[in-house]
Amino acid sequence: MIADFEYGTPTKLIFGKGVVARLPEVLAQYGKTVLMTYGGGSIKKIGLYDKVKALLKDFTVIELADIEPNPKYDPSVVTGARLCKEHNVDVILAVGGGSVLDCSKAIAACAMYEGDGWTLISGEDEAKSALPIVDILTLAATGSEYDAGAVISNTALKDKRPFHSPYVYPAVSFLDPEYTYSVSPWQTACGTADAINHVLEQFFASPHSMFNDGVMISALRSLMENVKLALAKPDDYSARSELMYVCSWGCNGILSNGSGYSGWPMHSIEHALSAYFDITHGAGLAIITPRWMQEILSERTVERFVTLGVELFGFDKELSPFVLAEKVITAFYDFFLSIGIPMHLSEVGVKEDAIEEMAEHILKLDQTDGPWMYVPLDKPALVRILKASM
Ligand code: NZQ
Ligand code: ZN
Repeated sequence: MIADFEYGTPTKLIFGKGVVARLPEVLAQYGKTVLMTYGGGSIKKIGLYDKVKALLKDFTVIELADIEPNPKYDPSVVTGARLCKEHNVDVILAVGGGSVLDCSKAIAACAMYEGDGWTLISGEDEAKSALPIVDILTLAATGSEYDAGAVISNTALKDKRPFHSPYVYPAVSFLDPEYTYSVSPWQTACGTADAINHVLEQFFASPHSMFNDGVMISALRSLMENVKLALAKPDDYSARSELMYVCSWGCNGILSNGSGYSGWPMHSIEHALSAYFDITHGAGLAIITPRWMQEILSERTVERFVTLGVELFGFDKELSPFVLAEKVITAFYDFFLSIGIPMHLSEVGVKEDAIEEMAEHILKLDQTDGPWMYVPLDKPALVRILKASM
């Protein structure tokens, strides 16, 4: 069934080879002074920095470099917001992966806010406006290019917060799959694991519909097959283009239209892992996924596993539901391992003695034990998932 919903996105996607040539015409709609944001240098290595600078020769360009993975409120967001205010920036141009885009969204909101920006990011106050954002995506993963969310870390507070505002949808996202050829095998695998997880978070919901199930299974199949092709041949345009487009659908709510709310439990858990140990988001999610599945498997949820087993993995539908469910859990574990993700948190630097504290942190920030969750997770459940993931 399709339950009631409301949906809309103001973001325009411009997809394909060479689309970045249209950047000046798009940016000019917003003004002449641009804050160009980017990360640690990958855009210079692939020639995109020089290309953008040449295209923007008639604009005033202020730069904010060195935005880190798991972008930090201080210094990146604070400095970016200050630069926007000092230079009367008209539009932000984010060039990079999800971290650069997320940081730019936070900057866009904080630049229009008089108080302490963390008040906005932490949700204590609501953004009333933001600078327009245009982006050139260089890594297929988060879906930040097509959603109204940003995830910002505050090292001083050991905190990593999802920040949402309708004002931070990108106005225009340029998606040229060729700029993702240089993404490392590790980031290609982790980015795909992130998108797979976005789909799964929305698949495990009640009520759900045949239509959404079909779209999500198709998305999962595309991600799982094309990541292998991209790992084998990094400049496989067909594979990179499918990854880029499917990832863009992962996080903007379209896959949930008419479905129940899942609570995004694996993201709640992973954000604590990144906050405490600064691990790669997609790796953390891949490791948690089979353990979370094991934790929530029950008479009530087993039907979701059966659908995945039969429709995605092609398992024999005559098998008993719980046998199918176990095979699905094993299949995801094996798949993530096969694309190069170590499947234990201890292998990515997480320490077991932080588990209790992280479980309390997750409950405090995300109330994963609330009745709105597809399967509520209390502290013992969170501890079990984290311990099983070690
Ligand atoms: O910093 P540079 O030098 O650019 O290098 C980056 C970085 O080291 C590199 N990279 C990016 N494009 C490249 C490239 N290397 C070679 N060639 C290219 N074309 O990849 C590394 C990782 O980049 P990052 O932006 O951190 O990765 P990703 O896109 O996976 O973003 C992860 C962040 O997004 C958040 C995560 O929590 C994490 O902080 N998320 C944002 C979401 C959203 N806005 O909706 C939802 C997600 O669930 C997620 O939580
Ligand atoms: Zn994610």
